[in-house]
Amino acid sequence: MLAAVLLLALPFCTAKLASSYAGSTLVDSYPPPGATNAPAVNAYYFPDGSQVGYAGPTPTGAEPAAIVTAIPFSKVENAYPLSRPNSADGANPNFNVMRQWGNLAPMYSVESFGLPDASPIIPEGCGLNAVHLLMRHGARYPTSDSGSSHFASKIHAAASKEGFNVTGDLKFLATWKYKLGAEILTPFGRDSLFSNGVAFRYRYGNLLNAFTDLPVFRTTSEDRMLDSALNFAAGFFGIRTYETDYHQEIIIEENNFNNTLAPYDVCPNVNTEDVGNFGGIQSKKWADIYLKHARKRLQPMIQGFNLTTSRLVDMQELCAYEVIASFTRSSWISDIRQTVALGYSKFCGLFTEKEWEGYEYYVDLNFWYSSGPGNPTAAAQGLGYVQELVSRLTHTPINVWNSSTNGTLNSNNITFPLNQPIYVDATHDTVISSIVTTLNFTSLAATGPLPTDHIPPHRSHQSYIASQIASFSSQLVAQVLSCPASEEPTHIRFLLNDGVVPLTGICGCTEDPNGLCALPSFISAMHERIGQIDYAHDCFVNYTMPDPDNIIDGRYPS
Ligand SMILES: *[C@@H]1O[C@H](CO)[C@@H](O)[C@H](O)[C@H]1NC(C)=O
Ligand SMILES: *[C@@H]1O[C@H](CO)[C@@H](O)[C@H](O)[C@H]1NC(C)=O
Ligand SMILES: *[C@@H]1O[C@H](CO)[C@@H](O)[C@H](O)[C@H]1NC(C)=O
Ligand SMILES: *[C@@H]1O[C@H](CO)[C@@H](O)[C@H](O)[C@H]1NC(C)=O
Ligand SMILES: *[C@@H]1O[C@H](CO)[C@@H](O)[C@H](O)[C@H]1NC(C)=O
Ligand SMILES: *[C@@H]1O[C@H](CO)[C@@H](O)[C@H](O)[C@H]1NC(C)=O
Ligand SMILES: *[C@@H]1O[C@H](CO)[C@@H](O)[C@H](O)[C@H]1NC(C)=O
Ligand SMILES: *[C@@H]1O[C@H](CO)[C@@H](O)[C@H](O)[C@H]1NC(C)=O
Repeated sequence: MLAAVLLLALPFCTAKLASSYAGSTLVDSYPPPGATNAPAVNAYYFPDGSQVGYAGPTPTGAEPAAIVTAIPFSKVENAYPLSRPNSADGANPNFNVMRQWGNLAPMYSVESFGLPDASPIIPEGCGLNAVHLLMRHGARYPTSDSGSSHFASKIHAAASKEGFNVTGDLKFLATWKYKLGAEILTPFGRDSLFSNGVAFRYRYGNLLNAFTDLPVFRTTSEDRMLDSALNFAAGFFGIRTYETDYHQEIIIEENNFNNTLAPYDVCPNVNTEDVGNFGGIQSKKWADIYLKHARKRLQPMIQGFNLTTSRLVDMQELCAYEVIASFTRSSWISDIRQTVALGYSKFCGLFTEKEWEGYEYYVDLNFWYSSGPGNPTAAAQGLGYVQELVSRLTHTPINVWNSSTNGTLNSNNITFPLNQPIYVDATHDTVISSIVTTLNFTSLAATGPLPTDHIPPHRSHQSYIASQIASFSSQLVAQVLSCPASEEPTHIRFLLNDGVVPLTGICGCTEDPNGLCALPSFISAMHERIGQIDYAHDCFVNYTMPDPDNIIDGRYPS
């Protein structure tokens, strides 16, 4: 018995030793092995509420509609319970490092996209008829094969060689370990989606009264996508009834499966180095510039490891991910005091405010040129969702399958109903970025193609800023309204993370202080846009990247 224990213990100890270098990966698992969860035992000892009874009175009251009268909640940070990190410049209350994280930023309310008097509140004199929500999943760990995990394995390899030495601000790397999972939601990600579900109930709950059947909400099959959708539903409906209060449609997300919420799986050019990764090529040029000083400053603090531009970008990403996962300190009590002074992740405080602004712009470039106005596949990727939106707005079934739409699901009014007052779809960052391109939100592209050698001066509400478009748990909301209030909708407008988007770039939408566009004008502009997009060409033809200065609406120039 004892021998068996020793034998079992040996490889375990060896493994521990081998992974004790800086940057080694730690993986925890829960529940503990051996813990049981036998349904029969649970049912006996832990009967559910309906079996126990005695719930007391349960009057439901009316559904709320705060969006009609009240200022909706706009948390200043929108990042509770995370702690805000400092930059290398110290704790400046006017500078929020988290806002500079592009698509890794926690969603925050955007004050204005250029309509200073507009608010998410339904404009006076209008009624709310329907709402279409498109949301990104919540905060996740890095995707597989991320720069963060590469950084860890490279540091780990370097640390095991002679000549590796870290000093000063990089001294923590000697004991730093990589603790991040991959792909799935972090606890903060769950929290955000749950909270967003609660907030959505407060804002739009009274639209539930107009349902005659259970709502169908959609997501994709990826773990974090389903998890996001379920957390949203739990917040929206309540933890004990959400499983029976609605239908969760889970669309397969996998190569070659049509899916408007994951269209890159049926658009091969998105996955090429030349076209799909053009954002990576462009942003690298900028990274070589904005990280030059950081490299000079930090390289002397590490011997036996080259701080290339890519590695420095990895370190900025690690700041975001460690804060999001709240992996704060490098294990030992003696370390805590220093850690607090630096903010949460030690990587955050290595970079100045200017370098953090540089990082946000790096992500902006990535999105603009890979999945935004500057990429020839962007409009094609967003096409399927826009076809669905038009179909829902006009209550007209789709009958041509020439994009990422799935004809099996969408030609059926059970899996693709056209009469819902509330639609909720979950998707990814790059997809939201593509969809706003397809929607022709050219007000976000008003400054034209983004330069790769400097941040344009006067970055205003009209600029293309990734953290305002595709942050974690980002929300694009279409409000379908009637002005004056009636059963028949007359107008539509869009809120991107609470900021009202001007629609004046869309053909037929006139200037409006509240961002309203007459519904028939919007629909006919979308028909025109759908007709302009050559999905088969932009997604499938083997072309080289056209001159990026000639693309501002996400299509291959004609
Ligand atoms: C690491 O660098 C510091 C500062 O240059 C030096 O004092 C120390 O001896 C070095 N350690 C090793 C193991 O080389
Ligand atoms: C459409 O969705 C159905 C249901 O998930 C699936 O069986 C089918 O393979 C999908 N079709 C395509 C072309 O992706
Ligand atoms: C760092 O880069 C220099 C020149 O680019 C190279 O000579 C050196 O071997 C590299 N060092 C390591 C540890 O990779
Ligand atoms: C999937 O999309 C392709 C390309 O648009 C289309 O040809 C095909 O009919 C679609 N399949 C289904 C089941 O909708
Ligand atoms: C759904 O489609 C079926 C068959 O085409 C039709 O009979 C039914 O009325 C439709 N239901 C709704 C709510 O549109
Ligand atoms: C798209 O936006 C551009 C620029 O604002 C505009 O010229 C064009 O008419 C728009 N197209 C549609 C269909 O709205
Ligand atoms: C795709 O179908 C729509 C109708 O839904 C049509 O307006 C558009 O022209 C078609 N696009 C192509 C490239 O065939
Ligand atoms: C696309 O064209 C280039 C140049 O002709 C060729 O090298 C490449 O293999 C082609 N790619 C595919 C996927 O066919």
